[in-house]
Amino acid sequence: MSMNRPRRLRATPAMRRLVAETRLHPAELILPMFVREGASEPVPISSMPGVVQHSTESLKGAIADAAAAGIGGVMLFGVPGRKDATGSGATDPDGILNVATRIAAAEAGDALVVQTDLCLDEFTDHGHCGVLDANGYVDNDASLERYRDMAVAQAEAGSQLLGLSGMMDGQVAAVREALDGAGFGNTPILGYAAKYASAFYGPFREAVQSSLQGDRRTYQQDPANRREGAREVELDLAEGADVVMVKPAMSYLDVLSDAAATSLVPVWAYQVSGEYAMIEAAAAHGWIDRRRAIEESVIGIRRAGADAVLTYWALELAEWIR
Ligand code: PBG
Repeated sequence: MSMNRPRRLRATPAMRRLVAETRLHPAELILPMFVREGASEPVPISSMPGVVQHSTESLKGAIADAAAAGIGGVMLFGVPGRKDATGSGATDPDGILNVATRIAAAEAGDALVVQTDLCLDEFTDHGHCGVLDANGYVDNDASLERYRDMAVAQAEAGSQLLGLSGMMDGQVAAVREALDGAGFGNTPILGYAAKYASAFYGPFREAVQSSLQGDRRTYQQDPANRREGAREVELDLAEGADVVMVKPAMSYLDVLSDAAATSLVPVWAYQVSGEYAMIEAAAAHGWIDRRRAIEESVIGIRRAGADAVLTYWALELAEWIR
């Protein structure tokens, strides 16, 4: 009897390897890293086993390790010692993120792309991604003014790609204009185009010692909305984003797939802290095979259309791939 037998191509490891449609490569992995002001040694993050807040000193070795692993880049987040209403540490050349960027850029050389988170939440005492108006509402256009200054400060510090994660309307256009006006026309912008108000950012709040009360639902997207994700991607592309991102990854693979189908610039995805923590916790209990679960989670994100993935497992994955 003649019939379709897809199993022929699954029979041996060599055959499966030959017909794999998606592969992981270290160059398409980006490691998010935290740098804490005043730390004298790396501080573990309890909700993210294996991830630390770096000191400026330990950052150097970590960048060298990332370069040696051959990953594509790192995304830096600052954990400042002091916060205020406008997040002034974000625009201060001596603020922790700008200091860390100078160190990382010097250490990395041409080996990988040093990227920075452009958002106020780590620097504001209220923990929001922008500044507040008299009623405590996040003021979109006043926040854009802060983002413009933050962008120039980051570019001056040597950031090679600015990651706009604040979800203010018009942020890509505002930052593009500020960069061009300050002589940074060649500094590219990564738009966190479709970013959802997600419970999966939970462990990150510990990682950056967030002071947020409440939530971000007046600026981050409602998890119920797929079409709106496509709209946000379209807007970022129209404003000149050089790369667009979908975040989180695993619960938003449909949004990622939509973006990959329409975007003419690279599409990235951020496998966030809660996605990391879930797999680590289940593996620690012996409930899942840790390595297989990690590989499957990242291959799934790539298969859905991500050209590159921000993942806290970037280094370990790069080692496994080799
Ligand atoms: C905002 C920002 C957040 C994350 C990355 N950039 C937090 C938030 O939006 O609440 C989360 C990343 C993660 O959970 O791994 N600066």
